[in-house]
Amino acid sequence: REPLRVALLGAGVVGGAVARHLTQRSDDMAARVGARLEVVGIAVRRAGRDRSELGVDPSLFTTDAEELVTRADLVVEVIGGIEPARSLILRAMEHGASVVTANKALLAEDGPRLYAAAAKHGVDLYYEAAVAGAIPLLRPLRESLAGDEVRKVLGIVNGTTNYVLDKMDTTGAGFQDAVEQAQALGYAEADPTADVEGFDAAAKAAILASLAFHTRVSGSDVYREGITEVSAADVAAAREMDCVVKLLAICERTEGGVSVRVHPAMIPRSHPLAGVREAFNAVFVEADAAGQLMFYGRGAGGEPTASAVLGDLVAVARHRVGGGLGPGESSYADLPILAMGDA
Ligand code: HSE
Repeated sequence: REPLRVALLGAGVVGGAVARHLTQRSDDMAARVGARLEVVGIAVRRAGRDRSELGVDPSLFTTDAEELVTRADLVVEVIGGIEPARSLILRAMEHGASVVTANKALLAEDGPRLYAAAAKHGVDLYYEAAVAGAIPLLRPLRESLAGDEVRKVLGIVNGTTNYVLDKMDTTGAGFQDAVEQAQALGYAEADPTADVEGFDAAAKAAILASLAFHTRVSGSDVYREGITEVSAADVAAAREMDCVVKLLAICERTEGGVSVRVHPAMIPRSHPLAGVREAFNAVFVEADAAGQLMFYGRGAGGEPTASAVLGDLVAVARHRVGGGLGPGESSYADLPILAMGDA
């Protein structure tokens, strides 16, 4: 069948990883989807930069994202921020493209408008990478748990602040020192405000609560307190009490409605969340029938986030092709099945 045309918006840490996978593993992707995924363009802000490490055809780079989205079946948005991402996504949908995005800020601010546009144009909108990077969490909430009653979602959804708090705990560093270490490792941005003030976690909490409770929660509905006021002395005091400080996102269904908040909290060292180190994320979900579920993994970084983006891309591409979800006839037929002990 005809290849599906993929437009990539953004070639940063995540976009670059997605482009590399799509180029180097195109046969695998084609086998899983049932059609080739052909990258028809990669929108970048500045032309002419050396991007040879991505191994993609340089003629694919364009600064005209508006034009690019009109000639794609599937659009992957990994630019981030509200504009121009929102206009580009809406334009892509108007032209019949399904959209995969990692944009938590946009979903938290204007999610309902995007869902409505997707419904109006009969296209998919998938955004697993927007919360907790590689961890499959949104689709379990949106699909696997759709028949259950979720009561609570609680966890660590920001890798940068977890790294900072972990360094403060393990090395006794002050807040500023720990942020600088996080920046040196590429976790924290040059301007770490969105992470350390809790905006990033609040946007993710809004998305989680909206999906978990089938309601509309925006980032500004979330009570938010970041970690800028957490001092080395606070962390040391927690340590005295055999506790660690973690930035938690807590979404609860209560008698009167829904409560969503992000704030630092003291957690006993015996709690599983206390063992979440460095830039990892972990989320607990409590549902009536399922009981308690735990999700853990890498919540940030190019490769882990690309994993979630690629999974979404395969899912929306399969919808286009109308294929089943199991391994296709041709995809794995030539892999030998090993007897026990051979591996
Ligand atoms: N800044 C985010 C974090 C990246 O540190 O978790 C992933 O959303």
